[in-house]
Amino acid sequence: MFFRNRFLFLLALAALLAFLSLSLQFLHLIPVNPVKENDLNAKNRKRIMPNPLTEPPAIDPIYEALFYCNIPTIPERSMEGHAPHYFKLISVHVLIRHGDRYPLYAIPKTKRPDIDCTLVPNRKPSHPQLEAFINHMAKGAEAQMDGTLSSMPRYPNHLLCEMGELTQTGIVQHLQNGQLLRDIYIKKHNLIPSDWTSKHLYLETTGKSRTLQSGLALLYAFLPEFDWKKINFRNQWSTIFCSGNCDCPVRNHYLEEEQRRQYSLRVKNVHLEKTYADMARVVGIPTRQLRASNPIDSMLCHFCHNVSFPCTKNGCIDIEHFKVIKTHQLEDEKERQEKKYYYLYALLATHPILNQTVSRMQRIAEGKKEELFVLYSAHDVTLSPVLSALGITEAKFPRFAARLVFELWKDVKNYKEHIIRILYNGVDVTFQTSFCRNHNKHGKLMCPLEKFVHFVKQDMFSPFNSTNYYDACRKKPF
Ligand SMILES: *[C@@H]1O[C@H](CO)[C@@H](O)[C@H](O)[C@H]1NC(C)=O
Ligand SMILES: *[C@@H]1O[C@H](CO)[C@@H](O)[C@H](O)[C@H]1NC(C)=O
Ligand SMILES: *[C@@H]1O[C@H](CO)[C@@H](O)[C@H](O)[C@H]1NC(C)=O
Repeated sequence: MFFRNRFLFLLALAALLAFLSLSLQFLHLIPVNPVKENDLNAKNRKRIMPNPLTEPPAIDPIYEALFYCNIPTIPERSMEGHAPHYFKLISVHVLIRHGDRYPLYAIPKTKRPDIDCTLVPNRKPSHPQLEAFINHMAKGAEAQMDGTLSSMPRYPNHLLCEMGELTQTGIVQHLQNGQLLRDIYIKKHNLIPSDWTSKHLYLETTGKSRTLQSGLALLYAFLPEFDWKKINFRNQWSTIFCSGNCDCPVRNHYLEEEQRRQYSLRVKNVHLEKTYADMARVVGIPTRQLRASNPIDSMLCHFCHNVSFPCTKNGCIDIEHFKVIKTHQLEDEKERQEKKYYYLYALLATHPILNQTVSRMQRIAEGKKEELFVLYSAHDVTLSPVLSALGITEAKFPRFAARLVFELWKDVKNYKEHIIRILYNGVDVTFQTSFCRNHNKHGKLMCPLEKFVHFVKQDMFSPFNSTNYYDACRKKPF
């Protein structure tokens, strides 16, 4: 089982790398002739076609950016739903990041990227269910949704996208996620009975149209033509899903430490500061204002949609600017994992949502037949700390439409035994978690539910010399 997983994973990786190297050429993002050599490293960074069987080089900003865009293509291979035949799947918990969206910030004094946020089934990227999805969303007035959610548009619909609006790409990404999960969990494992009702699902989203719409797209492909009366989306006001347990001073302390770390790394990077200054000159605003407009967010939108970067009479923002800022982002993530502030922040930030997940799993393990499928529709700032808290340090920053899946299985030979599997974008990361890493080294091929329960109820507080959330949140480390 283990070796087969490995092999399939390598196969999938090879296919992904081959696809990415093709898309690089297709998207015309690698200049045929290097533009300028003003960058000392430009020579070293030029590279030939990557060999699909080797890992990509240390930091490749273009490769990483393309991975982040997650441009829909043929459905990828995934490892969800794999376990020996004597295990039965009894519940699935999915945490997603919304799909591709329009920028949250505009670069001052430049034209916003011209992107259409209406849905047009014969425009690429598309999906076979896109048209049916639009028709079904139009009938959604009967859904029960918390407060402001019920008055939100159920799919994107502006000719020029609004700030932060989900795009057609974003909808297609989640139709693909939903279809993939349907093929595995419904068709293969019969997770949800055919006469399912609202009590079989638990659905929660933050109060942004892009997360609600992403959740609806996934759900539509997962349960096509669902009965709107059975859909009850709850609104989560907190981006870390801390619900009624948000008060945690120590968490805020570590977040501030993390922000200080981020700041000092940035100001040390002379190359980055020069790049911001050059971009500010192009745009014609002070460097500080340019930096504050978070230009990488807008540039990623240009990049992912193959729209050229903005120009002014002073010149153009270009791919070299993009590479420098993206490289810095990647270096920042690397340092973040080495220093522990973010990890400590993440443990406290994610306890409430992990605690909720564990409680649901325990109820189902005890035989309750409700909330078999759980969907949390969320943000990068939701997924990223969950990955960090679980100890999955190899995980990349959550791309558009990223999915983190928790599967709960019952051993049919021994009804008291339950195991969990954790998958990130289809890759099995169960044995990268801090609580099952060593278990695997001892030759065990499954991760028992108790390991996860013990971690969430107790071990995640040990770095704070505490045994519970309340104390860990208040024990002053300063
Ligand atoms: C990207 O844009 C370039 C230049 O506008 C165009 O030639 C190319 O076909 C586009 N690629 C895709 C994948 O749309
Ligand atoms: C954890 O879950 C239990 C059981 O649902 C609940 O009673 C408790 O309040 C939760 N604690 C936190 C800090 O979320
Ligand atoms: C926990 O206790 C150890 C040993 O007493 C100490 O070195 C460490 O700094 C403490 N950590 C925190 C976060 O209080």
